[in-house]
Amino acid sequence: MSRIYLCDFEDLTPEEPLLVEVEGLELAVIRKGDEVFVIDNQCTHGPGSLSEGDLDGYTIICDFHDGGFDIRTGEPVIPPCMVPVRTYEVERDAGAIMIAREAEAVTCARKFGSG
Ligand code: FES
Repeated sequence: MSRIYLCDFEDLTPEEPLLVEVEGLELAVIRKGDEVFVIDNQCTHGPGSLSEGDLDGYTIICDFHDGGFDIRTGEPVIPPCMVPVRTYEVERDAGAIMIAREAEAVTCARKFGSG
């Protein structure tokens, strides 16, 4: 399966999301320690850009209305966000950060507050 190269691990600053636009995707690439997470950059609540958000633990806080998502699952964890944000399985090859080109996005189906 072919992969989409996003950036090198060394391009990532811990706790500072990086906006990567590639092949029609607009992604926020987030380094948390030695882990890397990739989510859609577009907040599901409105026009917020999640790459401009702040990280609090594993929660990315959208700077538009201060809603939040778990970067591990995409689950909305702070209202007003209600709809999960798309997450991508990260593949690493040496220092390269990639996602599978045809991978199904791992999306949390549960909406905030619906159980
Ligand atoms: S646009 Fe992101 S919380 Fe409203």
